[in-house]
Amino acid sequence: MAAKRLLLFVLSTSLHTFASGQNSTNTTDNLQYIDPLIGSANGGNVFPGATLPYGMAKAVADVDSGSNQGGFTTENGNVTGFSTMHDSGTGGQPSLGNFAFFPYASCPGDDLNRCVFPKRVRKIPYQADSVKSKPGYFAITLSSGVATDMTAAQHTSLFRFKFPTFNNGTQSPLLLLDLTDLSDSRQDNATISIDEESGRMTGSARFLPSFGSGTWVGYFCADFKGADIRDNGIFVNSRASTDAKDLKISRSINGYPLPGGGFIRFESAPADGILARIAVSLISSEQACRSAEAEVPNFDFDTTRKAAEDSWREKLSPIIVSTEGVNSSLITNFYSGIYRTMVNPQNYTGENPKWESDEPYFDSFYCLWDSFRSQLPFLTILDPASVTDMIRSLIDTYEYEGWLPDCRMTTCKGYTQGGSNADVVLADGYIKGLSDGIDWDKGYEAVVKDAEVEPYDWSNEGRGGLDSWKLLGYIPTQDFDYRGFGTMTRSVSRTLEYAYNDFCIAQMAEGLGGREEDVEKYEERSSNWRNLYNKDQKSFLLNGGADTGFTGFFQGKYLNGTWHNQDPLWCSNIDPGPNRICSLQNTGQETFESSLWEYGFYIPGDQAGLISLYGGPYAFVKRLDYLHDNNITYIGNEPSFLTVFQYHYAGRPALSALRSHFYIPRFFSPTNAGLPGNDDSGAMGSFVAMSMMGLFPNPGQNVYLIIPPFFESVSIKSSLTGKTAVTRNVNFDPNYEAIYIQSATLNGEPYTKNWVDHSFFTEGKELVLTLGRNESSWGTRVEDLPPSLSKYEGFNGTANVTFLERFRRWDASKSRLGSVRRGDLKGYLGEEEV
Ligand SMILES: *[C@@H]1O[C@H](CO)[C@@H](O)[C@H](O)[C@H]1NC(C)=O
Ligand SMILES: *[C@@H]1O[C@H](CO)[C@@H](O)[C@H](O)[C@H]1NC(C)=O
Ligand SMILES: *[C@@H]1O[C@H](CO)[C@@H](O)[C@H](O)[C@H]1NC(C)=O
Ligand SMILES: *[C@@H]1O[C@H](CO)[C@@H](O)[C@H](O)[C@H]1NC(C)=O
Ligand SMILES: *[C@@H]1O[C@H](CO)[C@@H](O)[C@H](O)[C@H]1NC(C)=O
Ligand SMILES: *[C@@H]1O[C@H](CO)[C@@H](O)[C@H](O)[C@H]1NC(C)=O
Ligand SMILES: *[C@@H]1O[C@H](CO)[C@@H](O)[C@H](O)[C@H]1NC(C)=O
Ligand SMILES: *[C@@H]1O[C@H](CO)[C@@H](O)[C@H](O)[C@H]1NC(C)=O
Ligand SMILES: *[C@@H]1O[C@H](CO)[C@@H](O)[C@H](O)[C@H]1NC(C)=O
Ligand SMILES: *[C@@H]1O[C@H](CO)[C@@H](O)[C@H](O)[C@H]1NC(C)=O
Ligand SMILES: *[C@@H]1O[C@H](CO)[C@@H](O)[C@H](O)[C@H]1NC(C)=O
Ligand SMILES: *[C@@H]1O[C@H](CO)[C@@H](O)[C@H](O)[C@H]1NC(C)=O
Repeated sequence: MAAKRLLLFVLSTSLHTFASGQNSTNTTDNLQYIDPLIGSANGGNVFPGATLPYGMAKAVADVDSGSNQGGFTTENGNVTGFSTMHDSGTGGQPSLGNFAFFPYASCPGDDLNRCVFPKRVRKIPYQADSVKSKPGYFAITLSSGVATDMTAAQHTSLFRFKFPTFNNGTQSPLLLLDLTDLSDSRQDNATISIDEESGRMTGSARFLPSFGSGTWVGYFCADFKGADIRDNGIFVNSRASTDAKDLKISRSINGYPLPGGGFIRFESAPADGILARIAVSLISSEQACRSAEAEVPNFDFDTTRKAAEDSWREKLSPIIVSTEGVNSSLITNFYSGIYRTMVNPQNYTGENPKWESDEPYFDSFYCLWDSFRSQLPFLTILDPASVTDMIRSLIDTYEYEGWLPDCRMTTCKGYTQGGSNADVVLADGYIKGLSDGIDWDKGYEAVVKDAEVEPYDWSNEGRGGLDSWKLLGYIPTQDFDYRGFGTMTRSVSRTLEYAYNDFCIAQMAEGLGGREEDVEKYEERSSNWRNLYNKDQKSFLLNGGADTGFTGFFQGKYLNGTWHNQDPLWCSNIDPGPNRICSLQNTGQETFESSLWEYGFYIPGDQAGLISLYGGPYAFVKRLDYLHDNNITYIGNEPSFLTVFQYHYAGRPALSALRSHFYIPRFFSPTNAGLPGNDDSGAMGSFVAMSMMGLFPNPGQNVYLIIPPFFESVSIKSSLTGKTAVTRNVNFDPNYEAIYIQSATLNGEPYTKNWVDHSFFTEGKELVLTLGRNESSWGTRVEDLPPSLSKYEGFNGTANVTFLERFRRWDASKSRLGSVRRGDLKGYLGEEEV
C-alpha cells in the first residue's frame, strides 16, 4: 500500500515539472517523434533502417543475431553486410536481406585475397553508440572504423561508406556485393556481372519466401561514385580475382549457398566517402538500373534523404495531437506506431513478374491474419488512397491466381493461419466507402469463392473443410477432407474465423444489394460458432490449480458429434507446457497461437449473442476481466487486440479505457525492447496508434469503439474529403486518472452511443468528451451499444446507474497499477447482480 502511494506521488510530482516546462502546443513536425528503433530488441523484429512509406528498397545493416528477421537488431550480433530488401516485424525465418555490400578500408598487405569474403567469416562487431535511425536514414560504424550511413528511394538504396585513413600502407577501399540473403535461401544459378570500366554490377538470384511456397527471383543494379576505380572482379568462397567479370554460381550441396559475388576497389578513400547505389527489381536488372537512374540520378545523399523525410512527413501530416501536459515518450510511442504501419506492406507496382496488369501491385502482406485487425483499418483512416490500391491489388491477385491471399511475400503465396481473412479486409474497405477504381463485384466474387470453393491446397489460400462446414456447420477436429489439403489442426479457431469471414461476406452482400439469399446464407453460417460451444466445459488453472469459476467454452468437436478435449488454457500465456505446439505444425492444437479462453471472445459479429451465452453482461465482464487480470491473454499477439475493447459491448466503455491504459505504455513503450512481441508488419504499431487516438475498430464493421484519446485533442484530416475530424477531451488529465467519459457531444449535439462510424472521419465530425475520475452511465444503455447480429438481452440488471453509483466508490487510481481484479469489486456488488 505504501509503495503504491509513493509511486503515485512521484508520478504526479514529475508530471507537474514536465507540464510547466512546456507550452501548450499541437504537434507540427511529426517526424521528430519517430524512433524507428522501437522494437529493435526483445523480439519486436522491426525493420529499423531507411525506407520510404511502403518502399521496396529497405536499407539497413544486417546482423547475425537470432532475431534478425528485420535485418538489424540492437540486441546483439555482428554485422554481416548492408542489404536492401527487408520485411518488418515478422517471426519465423528471417525475411529477405538481399544483395548485401560489405566494406573494407583496404585488404591487409594490399592483397585482395586477404580481404575476407564469406559472410560467415567476415562479420564484425559495431560501435553500439554509433547506431542512428530516423525516417529515411540509418547510420552505423563498424569496429573496423568504417562509418556507414544510408537512405532510400522507392526501389533504390544509397549507401555512403566513410573509411578510416592511415599512412602505413596502400589506401584502397574495397566493397564486395554478395549474392546472399538473411536466411541463406539462395538457389542455383545466381549471377553477377561487373562492367570493368564503370564498375556497374548487375545480376540476379532465386530465393525462397520466408513463410510461404514457391520461389522468387530478385535482380539488382549497383553503381559507385566518390573515388576512381582501381580494379574489380568476382569472388567465390574465400578467393577473388580481377580477371573474371562474370559469375554464375551454384547453391552447392553444403546446406547453405556458396559464398559468391562481386567486388570493386578504389584508388583512394575520400573524406566524403564512397557512395554505393543499388536498386532492386523483380523484373530485370535493366529495370533495376532504370529505377536507380531515375530515383537517385546524381548520387545526391542529402537530396535523397530529404525526399524520404518529406514523404514520411506528408504521410504523417493528417494526424495532429495536442502535446499539452503529455509525457513526450507517449507522443513518440504514438507517432512511431503510426510510422510502422507504413513500412509494410510494400508497393511493388510495376515489379510483378507473374502477370501483366494495369492494376497496382502490393506485396509483403505479412500476414493479413495480423493486419486485418487494426493496421489496415487504421490506414483506411490515415491513407485511404493506399488502402484502395492494396485492395485493388488483392482483387487483382484473385483475378490472376484464383484466390485472395491470406499472406503474401515477394510474389509468393504465404501460409494461411486461420480463416480467409482477406474477406474481412475487403468488407472493411467496402463498408467504409473505399471506391476509387475498386471492382467491388469482382471483390465480392473473390470472397464468395473463399466461402464456397475449397482449394486443393488450403495451406496457401482459401479455406479447408468446406463440405463439413456446409453440412455440419463446423470444422470437425480430425475432419474427413478429401477435396483439399492443409494442416488438419485449429478446428476451433478456424471455425470461429470462418464464421466471422462469412459475417463479413453477408455485410458486403447486403451493401451491394440484390443478393438477399446470400445475406441470409452467410449470416446463418456466421452463427456456426455456436456449434462448438460446450456449455459444460470447465476450466481449472493448470498443474492442478483451482477452478477458474467459469463454465462454458468453445471446444473441438469430432465428425460424429463427440467433443474433443483441449484444456481451455492450453496455448495461453500461462500455459506451463513448455513443448506445447500451437502454431502451424501437424501436431498443433485446435486453436492457433492462442487458447480456447481467448478465442472464447472472438465473435466480432455477434457480441450480443456471445454475452447472452456467457450469462449476460455482468458475467461477460467478469470473464473478460479474468482473461486480462490472470495474464491468460497475450497482448503481444493479435487475437488479444479486440479483447481490450470488448467491454463496450457489455455496456462498460469505461473498462475498455481502463484496460487500454493497463497495456499502454506498460507493454508498449518507446524503447528498443518496448514491444511485447513481433510487430508483425506494423500490426502492434496500429494497436498503439488506434488505442491512443481513442477510436478502436471492430474490423469488417462500420464501428469504432470510443475511449478518451491519450491526448487532449486529436485531429485527423481525410485525404478523400479534405475534412478534419476532431476528438477533444474536456477535463483532460495527463496523469490518466480521469479517463472515464461522463458525457459527450458529436457536432455539438449530445451523444450517448459508445461508438461512431466511418463518416466521423470522412465528414470531419467533432467529438467532445467530458472526462471524470469515476465511471458514469455514459454509453451503457442498450441503445448506446454497437451493432450486433443478435439482440442485446439481460442488460437491465447490470449497466444501470444504481450499479454504477456503487461502482464509483472503487478507487480508480488502483487501476493504474494494474489491479483491476474481481476482488476490487467485492463489497460493491451483491450476488444478485452476478
Ligand atoms: C515519461 O515517461 C517515461 C517512460 O514511461 C518515464 O521514464 C519518465 O519518467 C516520464 N517523464 C516524466 C517527466 O514524467
Ligand atoms: C512558451 O511560451 C512563452 C510565452 O508565450 C514563450 O516566451 C516561450 O518561448 C515558449 N517556449 C517554448 C519552448 O516554446
Ligand atoms: C490543437 O488542435 C485542436 C484540434 O485538433 C484545437 O482544437 C486546439 O485548439 C489546438 N490547440 C492548439 C494549442 O493549437
Ligand atoms: C562478434 O564477433 C566477435 C569476433 O569478431 C565475437 O567475439 C563476438 O562474440 C561476436 N558477437 C556476437 C554478439 O555475436
Ligand atoms: C596500418 O594502420 C592500421 C590502422 O591503425 C592498422 O589497423 C593496420 O594494421 C596497419 N597496417 C600495417 C601494415 O601496419
Ligand atoms: C540452373 O541452370 C540449369 C542449367 O541451365 C537448369 O537446368 C536449372 O534448372 C537451373 N536451376 C535453377 C534453380 O534455376
Ligand atoms: C505505388 O508505386 C507506383 C509506382 O512506383 C506509384 O505510381 C504509386 O503511386 C504508388 N502507390 C502508393 C499507394 O504508394
Ligand atoms: C467419436 O469419434 C471420436 C474420435 O474418433 C471417438 O473418440 C469417440 O469415441 C466417437 N464417439 C462415438 C459416440 O462414437
Ligand atoms: C504475465 O506473463 C508474462 C509472460 O509470460 C510474465 O513475464 C509476467 O510475469 C506475467 N505476469 C503476471 C502478473 O503473472
Ligand atoms: C430485463 O430483461 C429481461 C430479459 O431481457 C426482460 O425479460 C425483463 O422484462 C427486463 N426487465 C425490465 C424491468 O426491463
Ligand atoms: C439497476 O440494478 C440494480 C441492481 O442489479 C437493480 O436492483 C435495479 O432494478 C436496476 N434498475 C433498473 C432501472 O433496471
Ligand atoms: C468520484 O467518486 C468519489 C468516491 O465516491 C467521490 O469522492 C468523487 O467526488 C467523485 N468524483 C467526481 C468527479 O464525481
